[in-house]
Amino acid sequence: MTAAAPVRGIRLLAAPPTGGMSDVSTFLAIDRLVLREFTPADAPLLADLDADPEVMRHLTGGRPTPAEEIRDRVLPRMLAAYRRPPGLGWWAAERRSDGVFLGWFEFRPVRDGDPREVELGYRLRRFAWGAGYATEGSRALVHKGFTELGVDRVMATTMAVNAGSRRVMAKAGLSYVRTFHQDWPEAIEGSEHGEVEYALTRAEWAERHAPGVGSPADR
Ligand SMILES: CC(C)(COP(=O)(O)OP(=O)(O)OC[C@H]1O[C@@H](n2cnc3c(N)ncnc32)[C@H](O)[C@@H]1OP(=O)(O)O)[C@@H](O)C(=O)NCCC(=O)NCCS
Repeated sequence: MTAAAPVRGIRLLAAPPTGGMSDVSTFLAIDRLVLREFTPADAPLLADLDADPEVMRHLTGGRPTPAEEIRDRVLPRMLAAYRRPPGLGWWAAERRSDGVFLGWFEFRPVRDGDPREVELGYRLRRFAWGAGYATEGSRALVHKGFTELGVDRVMATTMAVNAGSRRVMAKAGLSYVRTFHQDWPEAIEGSEHGEVEYALTRAEWAERHAPGVGSPADR
Protein backbone atom coordinates (compact mmCIF):
# COMPACT_ATOMS: atom_id res chain seq x y z
CA MET A 1 0.00 0.00 0.00
CA THR A 2 1.33 3.46 -0.82
CA ALA A 3 1.98 5.64 2.19
CA ALA A 4 0.57 9.09 1.53
CA ALA A 5 1.37 12.46 3.07
CA PRO A 6 -0.60 13.26 6.21
CA VAL A 7 -3.85 15.17 5.80
CA ARG A 8 -3.69 18.81 6.79
CA GLY A 9 -5.50 19.48 10.03
CA ILE A 10 -5.27 15.87 11.17
CA ARG A 11 -2.76 14.82 13.73
CA LEU A 12 -2.87 11.09 14.40
CA LEU A 13 -1.75 10.58 17.96
CA ALA A 14 0.37 7.64 18.96
CA ALA A 15 -0.14 8.18 22.67
CA PRO A 16 -3.40 7.27 24.40
CA PRO A 17 -5.72 10.22 24.99
CA THR A 18 -5.90 11.99 28.31
CA GLY A 19 -9.02 12.00 30.44
CA GLY A 20 -12.37 10.57 29.40
CA MET A 21 -13.49 6.99 29.67
CA SER A 22 -11.38 5.58 26.86
CA ASP A 23 -9.23 2.52 27.45
CA VAL A 24 -7.66 -0.27 25.42
CA SER A 25 -10.61 -0.20 23.03
CA THR A 26 -9.50 3.20 21.71
CA PHE A 27 -9.35 2.97 17.94
CA LEU A 28 -8.24 6.41 16.94
CA ALA A 29 -7.30 9.56 18.83
CA ILE A 30 -7.20 12.80 16.88
CA ASP A 31 -7.04 16.44 17.83
CA ARG A 32 -10.40 16.80 19.58
CA LEU A 33 -11.90 13.33 19.27
CA VAL A 34 -11.38 9.81 20.50
CA LEU A 35 -13.01 7.01 18.54
CA ARG A 36 -13.45 3.82 20.52
CA GLU A 37 -15.26 0.52 20.24
CA PHE A 38 -18.81 0.33 21.50
CA THR A 39 -19.60 -1.94 24.44
CA PRO A 40 -22.91 -3.42 25.62
CA ALA A 41 -22.98 -0.69 28.30
CA ASP A 42 -23.44 1.98 25.60
CA ALA A 43 -27.12 1.21 24.93
CA PRO A 44 -28.39 4.22 26.96
CA LEU A 45 -26.04 6.59 25.12
CA LEU A 46 -27.29 5.35 21.76
CA ALA A 47 -30.91 5.58 22.91
CA ASP A 48 -30.33 9.16 24.03
CA LEU A 49 -28.72 10.04 20.68
CA ASP A 50 -31.62 8.56 18.71
CA ALA A 51 -34.22 10.15 20.99
CA ASP A 52 -33.62 13.60 19.46
CA PRO A 53 -36.08 14.19 16.56
CA GLU A 54 -33.65 16.64 14.93
CA VAL A 55 -30.90 14.01 14.90
CA MET A 56 -33.32 11.51 13.35
CA ARG A 57 -34.90 13.95 10.89
CA HIS A 58 -33.16 12.64 7.78
CA LEU A 59 -33.15 9.05 8.98
CA THR A 60 -36.67 8.28 10.20
CA GLY A 61 -38.43 11.61 9.75
CA GLY A 62 -37.76 12.36 13.43
CA ARG A 63 -39.03 9.16 15.04
CA PRO A 64 -36.76 8.03 17.91
CA THR A 65 -35.35 4.51 17.90
CA PRO A 66 -37.03 2.53 20.72
CA ALA A 67 -34.62 1.59 23.51
CA GLU A 68 -35.36 -2.12 23.11
CA GLU A 69 -34.55 -1.94 19.39
CA ILE A 70 -31.18 -0.42 20.29
CA ARG A 71 -30.53 -3.08 22.92
CA ASP A 72 -31.70 -6.08 20.87
CA ARG A 73 -30.83 -5.13 17.29
CA VAL A 74 -28.79 -1.94 16.73
CA LEU A 75 -26.06 -2.43 19.33
CA PRO A 76 -25.59 -6.20 18.76
CA ARG A 77 -25.12 -5.46 15.04
CA MET A 78 -22.52 -2.83 15.85
CA LEU A 79 -20.67 -5.13 18.25
CA ALA A 80 -20.68 -8.00 15.76
CA ALA A 81 -19.11 -5.86 13.04
CA TYR A 82 -15.67 -5.46 14.68
CA ARG A 83 -12.95 -7.67 13.26
CA ARG A 84 -14.99 -8.49 10.14
CA PRO A 85 -12.42 -7.41 9.01
CA PRO A 86 -10.40 -5.78 11.84
CA GLY A 87 -10.41 -2.00 12.04
CA LEU A 88 -13.81 -1.45 10.44
CA GLY A 89 -17.17 -0.91 12.06
CA TRP A 90 -19.04 1.67 14.13
CA TRP A 91 -16.98 3.85 16.47
CA ALA A 92 -18.23 5.74 19.50
CA ALA A 93 -16.97 9.33 19.36
CA GLU A 94 -15.95 11.04 22.60
CA ARG A 95 -14.75 14.57 23.11
CA ARG A 96 -11.08 14.12 23.83
CA SER A 97 -10.90 16.81 26.51
CA ASP A 98 -13.50 15.29 28.86
CA GLY A 99 -14.75 11.97 27.44
CA VAL A 100 -18.28 13.24 26.75
CA PHE A 101 -20.10 11.01 24.24
CA LEU A 102 -20.71 12.96 21.02
CA GLY A 103 -22.19 10.25 18.82
CA TRP A 104 -20.69 7.80 16.35
CA PHE A 105 -18.89 7.29 13.09
CA GLU A 106 -19.45 4.37 10.78
CA PHE A 107 -16.65 3.05 8.61
CA ARG A 108 -17.59 -0.48 7.62
CA PRO A 109 -17.36 -2.78 4.64
CA VAL A 110 -20.03 -2.53 1.97
CA ARG A 111 -19.54 -6.28 1.47
CA ASP A 112 -19.11 -8.19 4.72
CA GLY A 113 -15.48 -9.11 5.37
CA ASP A 114 -14.06 -7.17 2.40
CA PRO A 115 -12.22 -3.97 3.39
CA ARG A 116 -11.77 -2.69 -0.16
CA GLU A 117 -14.99 -0.69 -0.26
CA VAL A 118 -16.28 0.94 2.92
CA GLU A 119 -19.24 3.10 3.82
CA LEU A 120 -18.69 6.29 5.81
CA GLY A 121 -21.43 7.58 8.10
CA TYR A 122 -21.89 9.70 11.21
CA ARG A 123 -24.52 10.66 13.76
CA LEU A 124 -23.76 13.27 16.37
CA ARG A 125 -25.66 14.73 19.33
CA ARG A 126 -27.15 18.09 18.52
CA PHE A 127 -25.07 20.11 20.98
CA ALA A 128 -21.96 18.96 19.07
CA TRP A 129 -23.10 20.13 15.62
CA GLY A 130 -21.35 22.92 13.78
CA ALA A 131 -18.00 22.49 15.55
CA GLY A 132 -16.30 20.54 12.78
CA TYR A 133 -16.37 17.20 14.58
CA ALA A 134 -17.97 15.26 11.71
CA THR A 135 -15.37 16.63 9.31
CA GLU A 136 -12.50 15.88 11.67
CA GLY A 137 -13.59 12.30 12.35
CA SER A 138 -14.39 11.58 8.71
CA ARG A 139 -11.06 12.86 7.44
CA ALA A 140 -9.21 10.79 10.03
CA LEU A 141 -11.11 7.63 9.10
CA VAL A 142 -10.50 8.21 5.40
CA HIS A 143 -6.80 8.72 6.11
CA LYS A 144 -6.58 5.57 8.24
CA GLY A 145 -8.59 3.56 5.74
CA PHE A 146 -6.35 4.42 2.81
CA THR A 147 -3.04 4.22 4.66
CA GLU A 148 -3.58 1.29 7.04
CA LEU A 149 -6.75 -0.67 6.46
CA GLY A 150 -6.54 -1.72 2.81
CA VAL A 151 -9.45 0.46 1.70
CA ASP A 152 -9.66 1.24 -2.03
CA ARG A 153 -12.91 3.21 -2.14
CA VAL A 154 -14.90 5.14 0.47
CA MET A 155 -18.54 5.79 -0.30
CA ALA A 156 -21.35 7.50 1.58
CA THR A 157 -25.05 8.05 1.00
CA THR A 158 -27.63 10.40 2.43
CA MET A 159 -30.92 12.02 1.55
CA ALA A 160 -30.39 14.59 -1.21
CA VAL A 161 -31.86 17.25 1.10
CA ASN A 162 -29.45 16.51 3.97
CA ALA A 163 -27.20 19.49 3.27
CA GLY A 164 -25.08 19.07 6.40
CA SER A 165 -24.23 15.45 5.66
CA ARG A 166 -23.43 16.25 2.02
CA ARG A 167 -21.11 19.05 3.10
CA VAL A 168 -19.26 16.72 5.47
CA MET A 169 -18.82 14.20 2.64
CA ALA A 170 -17.39 16.91 0.41
CA LYS A 171 -15.09 18.23 3.15
CA ALA A 172 -13.82 14.68 3.72
CA GLY A 173 -12.84 14.62 0.04
CA LEU A 174 -15.72 12.59 -1.40
CA SER A 175 -17.35 13.70 -4.66
CA TYR A 176 -20.92 13.41 -5.86
CA VAL A 177 -21.49 10.21 -7.86
CA ARG A 178 -25.24 9.87 -8.44
CA THR A 179 -28.78 10.44 -7.25
CA PHE A 180 -30.97 7.38 -6.78
CA HIS A 181 -34.41 6.54 -5.47
CA GLN A 182 -35.12 3.89 -2.93
CA ASP A 183 -38.36 2.53 -1.50
CA TRP A 184 -38.47 3.19 2.23
CA PRO A 185 -41.11 1.72 4.54
CA GLU A 186 -41.97 5.24 5.71
CA ALA A 187 -42.03 8.44 3.67
CA ILE A 188 -39.79 11.20 5.03
CA GLU A 189 -40.19 14.83 4.08
CA GLY A 190 -37.75 15.46 1.23
CA SER A 191 -37.43 11.80 0.21
CA GLU A 192 -39.05 12.69 -3.12
CA HIS A 193 -35.68 14.26 -4.03
CA GLY A 194 -34.00 10.88 -3.57
CA GLU A 195 -30.69 9.83 -2.09
CA VAL A 196 -27.21 10.81 -3.17
CA GLU A 197 -24.02 8.79 -3.27
CA TYR A 198 -20.58 10.35 -2.80
CA ALA A 199 -17.27 8.51 -3.14
CA LEU A 200 -13.49 8.81 -3.06
CA THR A 201 -10.93 6.30 -4.33
CA ARG A 202 -7.52 5.76 -2.81
CA ALA A 203 -5.88 6.90 -6.06
CA GLU A 204 -7.82 10.19 -6.04
CA TRP A 205 -7.04 10.74 -2.38
CA ALA A 206 -3.33 9.99 -2.77
CA GLU A 207 -3.08 12.31 -5.75
CA ARG A 208 -4.69 15.17 -3.85
CA HIS A 209 -2.52 14.63 -0.79
CA ALA A 210 0.75 14.23 -2.60
CA PRO A 211 3.36 16.63 -1.16
CA GLY A 212 2.85 20.14 -2.49
CA VAL A 213 -0.67 19.53 -3.76
CA GLY A 214 -3.45 21.44 -2.00
CA SER A 215 -6.79 19.71 -1.62
CA PRO A 216 -10.03 21.60 -2.27
CA ALA A 217 -11.57 19.40 0.43
CA ASP A 218 -9.30 20.99 3.01
CA ARG A 219 -11.00 24.34 2.61
C1 LIG B 1 -24.63 15.76 9.57
C2 LIG B 1 -23.84 15.96 10.85
C3 LIG B 1 -23.06 14.69 11.16
C4 LIG B 1 -22.86 17.13 10.63
O1 LIG B 1 -22.00 17.17 11.77
P1 LIG B 1 -21.17 18.47 12.17
O2 LIG B 1 -20.13 18.05 13.15
O3 LIG B 1 -22.09 19.55 12.56
O4 LIG B 1 -20.46 18.84 10.81
P2 LIG B 1 -19.23 19.84 10.68
O5 LIG B 1 -19.23 20.81 11.82
O6 LIG B 1 -18.02 19.05 10.44
O7 LIG B 1 -19.64 20.68 9.39
C5 LIG B 1 -19.14 20.39 8.12
C6 LIG B 1 -19.71 21.38 7.12
O8 LIG B 1 -21.10 21.15 6.97
C7 LIG B 1 -21.82 22.36 7.19
N1 LIG B 1 -23.09 21.99 7.81
C8 LIG B 1 -23.26 21.29 8.95
N2 LIG B 1 -24.58 21.14 9.20
C9 LIG B 1 -25.24 21.77 8.19
C10 LIG B 1 -26.61 21.96 7.86
N3 LIG B 1 -27.60 21.46 8.62
N4 LIG B 1 -26.91 22.62 6.71
C11 LIG B 1 -25.93 23.11 5.92
N5 LIG B 1 -24.61 22.96 6.18
C12 LIG B 1 -24.26 22.30 7.29
C13 LIG B 1 -20.93 23.16 8.11
O9 LIG B 1 -21.23 24.54 8.02
C14 LIG B 1 -19.57 22.81 7.54
O10 LIG B 1 -19.31 23.50 6.35
P3 LIG B 1 -18.33 24.78 6.28
O11 LIG B 1 -17.04 24.35 6.90
O12 LIG B 1 -18.26 25.09 4.83
O13 LIG B 1 -19.00 25.83 7.10
C15 LIG B 1 -24.76 16.30 12.05
O14 LIG B 1 -25.55 17.39 11.69
C16 LIG B 1 -25.65 15.14 12.43
O15 LIG B 1 -25.26 14.27 13.21
N6 LIG B 1 -26.91 15.13 11.91
C17 LIG B 1 -27.88 14.11 12.27
C18 LIG B 1 -27.56 12.74 11.73
C19 LIG B 1 -27.42 12.73 10.24
O16 LIG B 1 -28.19 13.33 9.50
N7 LIG B 1 -26.41 11.99 9.79
C20 LIG B 1 -26.14 11.78 8.40
C21 LIG B 1 -27.08 10.77 7.87
S1 LIG B 1 -26.48 10.10 6.36
